[in-house]
Amino acid sequence: MSVDVRDTIKIEKNGDGITWLYLNRPEKRNAMNPTMHLEMVQALDELEVDDETEILVLTGSGSAFCAGQDLKEFFREQDGKPKERLKVGRASQEWRLRKLKSFPKITIAMVNGWCCGGGFTPLVACDFAIAAEEAQFSLSEVNWGILPGGLVTKVIADSVRYRDALYYILTAENFDGKRAKEIGLVNFTAPLDKLRDDTVAFAQRLLQKNPVVLRAAKEAYRAVRTMDYEQAEDYLSAKSDELKLRDPERGREKGMHEFLDTKAYRPALAPYPR
Ligand code: ACO
Repeated sequence: MSVDVRDTIKIEKNGDGITWLYLNRPEKRNAMNPTMHLEMVQALDELEVDDETEILVLTGSGSAFCAGQDLKEFFREQDGKPKERLKVGRASQEWRLRKLKSFPKITIAMVNGWCCGGGFTPLVACDFAIAAEEAQFSLSEVNWGILPGGLVTKVIADSVRYRDALYYILTAENFDGKRAKEIGLVNFTAPLDKLRDDTVAFAQRLLQKNPVVLRAAKEAYRAVRTMDYEQAEDYLSAKSDELKLRDPERGREKGMHEFLDTKAYRPALAPYPR
């Protein structure tokens, strides 16, 4: 096991392909300050080409997943400093949205506690989200005089049912993990004391699948969402050809051979043995 502790984040690896990336300011409920944004950009750059990292789990230390932007260090202390604001603002969007959305390995947000404001952006950018039933979600922005900015309103519009999205944006009412599942924000929930085990079990299922295929499938899904049918048809055809060339396992041939010739398995029931 290796643990890499930096100023505001922590990276843990156990030799099983799953890397745990912690927002690590538990005393500040993992509020995102400028240092955290810069460290996260660098960490994701490193992990996307790290051979030990097959699946990335983003979570928080202590009682929070992420209490949003740091109201003191990210907002108040940057007011009136346009150059600094530009730099940390860019870093903030870079890791929370672009880097996570285009991360080449599977990403899972494991919401262990409070998730507020700007914390929704990395949650939605991850491929999967798993929440503790006891976790608390809060789009608190209107409570203190702002709207859900950055990209929070956009990611909520992308991930939550229409009526529920407006309800929580406008009321700033808290909701728990079970409600997050009902409105489509997370894939599933677990009691807090089983959250890590259930997340590992889910990650292990994904580890059995061909990672090059998973990458192509998620890239394709994200890309076609904004295309019309003709564009999507063309794109998916080209992407499928690209995948055939890029896959070192030759999964398509292998899968077909094992189903049609050796009759070793059923693709609708399980992945081919790797
Ligand atoms: N920014 C800066 N500091 C924060 C933040 C934050 N977003 N959230 C928590 N902290 C700090 C507190 O100031 C406190 O610091 P201190 O010990 O130096 O006084 C420490 O973290 C612990 O916070 P408490 O409020 O004592 O913790 P508690 O567990 O009782 O409450 C809760 C947690 C509900 C999350 C509360 O801290 C809170 O409401 N935080 C603000 C959440 C929020 O509205 N975030 C959205 C920000 S806007 C945006 O992201 C766009």
